[in-house]
Amino acid sequence: MMRHELVVEGRVVNPWAVHDTAQIGIDGGLITEIKKQGLQGERMIELPVKCLIFPGFIDLHAHLREDSSGGWNYKEDFRSGSAAALHGGVTTLVDMPNTPLPGVNAERLRLKKELARSKSELDIFFYGAITGTNIEHVADMSKEAIGYKLFLADGLSLHESELPEAFRAIEATSRPAVVHCEDQELIEERRAELEVVGLKAAGDEDLHSWLRPPQAELAAVKKVLNSYGMSDRHRLRIDIAHISVYDSLVLIRCAGGSAAGVHCEVTPHHLFFNREDLSERKGFLKTNPPLRGETDRCQLLDAFKRGEIDFLVSDHAPHTVEEKALDLPDAPAGVPNLDTFGNFVAWLIFSRGVNPALVSRVCAYNPAKFLGLRDRGSIEVGKRANLTILEHRSVKVSSEQLKTKCGWSPFEGFEFPGTVRYTVVNGEPFSFTGGVTATSDAP
Ligand code: DOR
Ligand code: ZN
Repeated sequence: MMRHELVVEGRVVNPWAVHDTAQIGIDGGLITEIKKQGLQGERMIELPVKCLIFPGFIDLHAHLREDSSGGWNYKEDFRSGSAAALHGGVTTLVDMPNTPLPGVNAERLRLKKELARSKSELDIFFYGAITGTNIEHVADMSKEAIGYKLFLADGLSLHESELPEAFRAIEATSRPAVVHCEDQELIEERRAELEVVGLKAAGDEDLHSWLRPPQAELAAVKKVLNSYGMSDRHRLRIDIAHISVYDSLVLIRCAGGSAAGVHCEVTPHHLFFNREDLSERKGFLKTNPPLRGETDRCQLLDAFKRGEIDFLVSDHAPHTVEEKALDLPDAPAGVPNLDTFGNFVAWLIFSRGVNPALVSRVCAYNPAKFLGLRDRGSIEVGKRANLTILEHRSVKVSSEQLKTKCGWSPFEGFEFPGTVRYTVVNGEPFSFTGGVTATSDAP
């Protein structure tokens, strides 16, 4: 009988079915055999029933900060960001282009790829940023980019009037696009209003959400859906990034949702915290789009449970403790989420009753399909041996255990009902709380 390089045995959670016991045989980085029993391996990982084996999580939205300038390496780099990803059960990740030397052309992306390859065990892919000035580079960038990122607000942004042209150019590449939807005009109007009323609200935790209200997200989502609909192009796949307002989902559903090519994602912070939490955590919970009220949070969580949201993403956006401790108006937006991604998924399953098979879809199968990665996303013979193994046991998040360079977590001190026990990348197991046992008669 064939002896596999590695055999992993336990409860397997595939996108459409859970198998109470199965053995996964792994060789040369691939899944080579799956059986109920009888497999032999040079190395065996035998998991207790309190563990769940998922296809390796794919995070299609993370900011690892590094580029060839090294200008933001003090926040994170490919090495520390990958370590945080593995710790959180993420086996494949797509990095966002908003670094000091933004990923706006193929050469910049190629340099990022080279750096990532030398520093990371996991597969890191890249989005190219589409701004008003580089639409002509879209085709050329496709040799280095797995997809494109369009920001409708802040630096690196694209004007709404350029959306149809950008969508046309992206469609021709067959690559997908992720769109950050906040309406620049509305945000600017609010800023101008603030000049008139004065800064009396500055420092107030409501200021940030007032400047970037739900209407800013909804207005931008409408414009994106209009441009997408006008172009009538069903070959183009788009993802509305980090929706924070339930009505965004309603609009996306009306436009036909993922069946019509319009997907959406949600983040751990928008499902876990609400605007009130800012009064205590201040700049540490400042994000774009901002946290919303409890009603939106609960509605999004319920919609997630019903399977109406396509992806769970980290939107890992590390900034240092010193930066986040600044007054709210000055603190940069974004929170680190990679280390705790698996803990958060465990919370969804064990505390909020989310079906594990749904997790397998939103964290692996759906992102693989969206990105066009046919070699991963489910546990099947022939796929890459990427696995995320969660253990059902109580753990408290503590900054000493984090791998992210920024060294803090929005979940610090919170007790989660589960954690990552192993992350297996291309057949290589990274152990966090368990051990890999070598069989006694291994050659
Ligand atoms: O809060 C955010 N931070 N939202 C974004 O879209 C960008 C991110 C960052 O890069 O820090
Ligand atoms: Zn982001």
